[in-house]
Amino acid sequence: MKNYLKKNKKYILILFLVIFIVFGSGLTKFTHRSFQYNEPYGHVDLEDEILNFPEGFLWGTATAAYQVEGGNVYSNWWDFEQEEGRIKNGDRSDVATNHYVMYKEDIDLMSQMSMNSYRFSIEWSRIEPKQGEFNQEEIEHYRNVLNALSKKGIKPMVTLWHHSLPYWFEDIGGWEKVENISYYEEYVSYVTKNLSEEVELWITMNEPMAYISCGYVSAKWPPGEQNIWKVNRLLKNIIKAHKRGYEVIHSNDQDAKVGLAEHSSYAVPYHKNNILENIAAYSIDYVWTHYLLEQITDELDFIGLHYYYRQYINIDALEDLLSQSLDEFETRSMDRSYYPKGLFEVLMRFKKYDKPIYITELGVPDYHEVDRDQFIREHLREVYYAVDAGIDVKGFYYWTLLDCFEWTEGYDAEFGLIDINRDTQERSIKEESWEYAHIAECNCVSNSDK
Ligand code: BGC
Repeated sequence: MKNYLKKNKKYILILFLVIFIVFGSGLTKFTHRSFQYNEPYGHVDLEDEILNFPEGFLWGTATAAYQVEGGNVYSNWWDFEQEEGRIKNGDRSDVATNHYVMYKEDIDLMSQMSMNSYRFSIEWSRIEPKQGEFNQEEIEHYRNVLNALSKKGIKPMVTLWHHSLPYWFEDIGGWEKVENISYYEEYVSYVTKNLSEEVELWITMNEPMAYISCGYVSAKWPPGEQNIWKVNRLLKNIIKAHKRGYEVIHSNDQDAKVGLAEHSSYAVPYHKNNILENIAAYSIDYVWTHYLLEQITDELDFIGLHYYYRQYINIDALEDLLSQSLDEFETRSMDRSYYPKGLFEVLMRFKKYDKPIYITELGVPDYHEVDRDQFIREHLREVYYAVDAGIDVKGFYYWTLLDCFEWTEGYDAEFGLIDINRDTQERSIKEESWEYAHIAECNCVSNSDK
């Protein structure tokens, strides 16, 4: 059986992919919120009043260069977002949050919020704006960021590719061509040779599945192509790229710890005994998260896990979906079902990898009117429960530091702990963010809301 599965891996992946596209593309979002499901792991709630996290736990926030820096004109996103209708409300990244200039102020704010770590990304299109032309000044910029962090005792975690790619790289076929992997390798080598002294935690890439799905299936992101037949090739090349990146980083710095960040929703069937819903839930989880991770277990020092929501699969929703107009469907694209307990379940599903885990993203936008302080507290309790159940969670990064450019959602989806006045770029810490600051400061979370 195992051999049969191994031999036909490609076809199984395609089958899962089709199921995944049909169900994952929105069907799950029109289900009822009052739904109850028996959690497979379902922890027993602890009675302790205060849940103390392990010593040395990392508390941080995460950002991505393109979403915060501003002025990333050599990226494949830049021209793409200028096209009419690409970004909600006609927003443009433009100066974004001006983090490229104001990073010191932002680091100061992190420090005020008791953060001891910061996950940010290096923009490949700044380092190598034209093919083969590396820009040392940009390396110095990131070195300055790293030095500013170090002065405040904030440990960096650096992502080498977070959705945005150099325009030239996309132009020569991007990840579609196996021979292009060597360009990524050169970039990774250049950066890590220059900055390895300042960085221990590296992430080779952020959510490659989101890149593939939004760039080549829904076509909402660059290159904006709808071609499911390329998915398998893209994935194969990206997996190879991660492996090479892993080797290169280690050859430049033996002490480095290298991971990859991937998203995992908590996908569950709405009707416990419905076979199709069960297969679909399994496919979503497998295609989106585990297929990729299973290919790279030997090249992972840790896993970066993103958890945002529960996704439940309800076959009855098919009717709703078919009766929706595309516009109605689009406006609900960020409709998410928040479910802290799902984080515990997802973490338990990661136990099999036996790797340290950092929760490298988790967050909520303002317009969902979910209390952010409560949202964070409830999720962190689940992290604690997972640690208590033997999962090696080493850190947590709230997404995100500042209200920023949320890709196709523009500035509408405000996930930040810090609010920004778009005219003056003035920053202010949101009232409810202090809860996270207090948790980080005490390295503990209260087990009750009283
Ligand atoms: C991405 C971020 C994005 C966030 C919120 C994550 O999947 O890595 O770039 O802003 O989701 O939607």
